[in-house]
Amino acid sequence: MRELPVSTERLIVRRFAAGDVAAFAAYRSDPEVARYQGWDAPVPEAAARRLVTEFAAAEEGTPGWFQYAVECAGVLIGDVGVCLDRNRMQAEVGFTIARAHQGKGYATEAVRCVLDRVFAAGVRRVSAECDARNTASARLLERLGFGAEGHRRRHTWLKGEWTDDLLFGLLAERRRASPPAIFACRPNLLVGDLGASLDFYAGALGFRIGWRWSDPRARFLADDEPHEPGTALVGRDNVQIMLTQVTGVHGTRLHLDVPSAAQVDELFREWTGRGVDIAEPPFVRPWGMYEMRVLDPDRTVLRVSSPPAH
Ligand SMILES: CC(C)(COP(=O)(O)OP(=O)(O)OC[C@H]1O[C@@H](n2cnc3c(N)ncnc32)[C@H](O)[C@@H]1OP(=O)(O)O)[C@@H](O)C(=O)NCCC(=O)NCCS
Repeated sequence: MRELPVSTERLIVRRFAAGDVAAFAAYRSDPEVARYQGWDAPVPEAAARRLVTEFAAAEEGTPGWFQYAVECAGVLIGDVGVCLDRNRMQAEVGFTIARAHQGKGYATEAVRCVLDRVFAAGVRRVSAECDARNTASARLLERLGFGAEGHRRRHTWLKGEWTDDLLFGLLAERRRASPPAIFACRPNLLVGDLGASLDFYAGALGFRIGWRWSDPRARFLADDEPHEPGTALVGRDNVQIMLTQVTGVHGTRLHLDVPSAAQVDELFREWTGRGVDIAEPPFVRPWGMYEMRVLDPDRTVLRVSSPPAH
């Protein structure tokens, strides 16, 4: 495993250091940040110093808590804690991000990076729990693939009241099984006459026809459903090509396959967050796929879509 620090797309995940005390005390002293956590705000500088000294001295990969510092553009913006069980095969995770840096995907990016390290070290299962009112935390865990495992009612005494906890878990095999956001790219070859192209690819080149929207045996459509009549998929060996009939000038298209509508939405948020011009936001197309369209600088259309929900 790579030594700390490690970089993600926008962040650095590293060990804590003495210079972090002021920033750490500041974000942990925010009553909104502390609201569902076990500490009380404000956190005095002396207490912050004690904690940061402890964090800096801890060893990653040994049983007990290890706290990762999360840095963005040279500023400490939060922390992710992992408690490794004595058996080194189970762990618990917790996370905190300064209020000014919430809602930007930094927590997702930082926790994903830490989970990569934890699972790479051989952990089989990571657990997490949060206050049932802490919807930002529950959403974050679900986004990262955690499954909901229970609701403990009035289980924790927190800041003067009995509160409910939500329990979550993520198994190594489930994480391995979860496909990347974009799992395939199929060129859309724009053709003038679909029938002639099918004759060529299937009849002459030995491709098989996977489906054709206008074919009543097509995978997704009933006869009376609207469809793009001029689209078909042909494949042979490891290659698939989508043939799409269009009139006029033939630009081109790429078809990016995404496993689920939720992941199309996540890519939409990620790309709009980076200022990408989305030509058409995601919606369910008449043929059932949940699709957004993005134009590249040459006006090539990227069709980013997930299969129809059944
Ligand atoms: C829990 C906590 C870390 C979640 O932080 P967060 O900012 O909501 O999580 P992310 O950084 O992943 O941001 C996700 C949000 O940013 C939005 N976002 C904006 N740009 C984004 C991008 N480029 N990528 C991903 N998401 C982006 C997402 O749409 C999402 O919004 P939504 O939750 O309204 O759907 C934060 O609320 C926190 O620190 N709370 C206080 C401490 C705490 O309670 N910790 C948990 C204890 S169990």
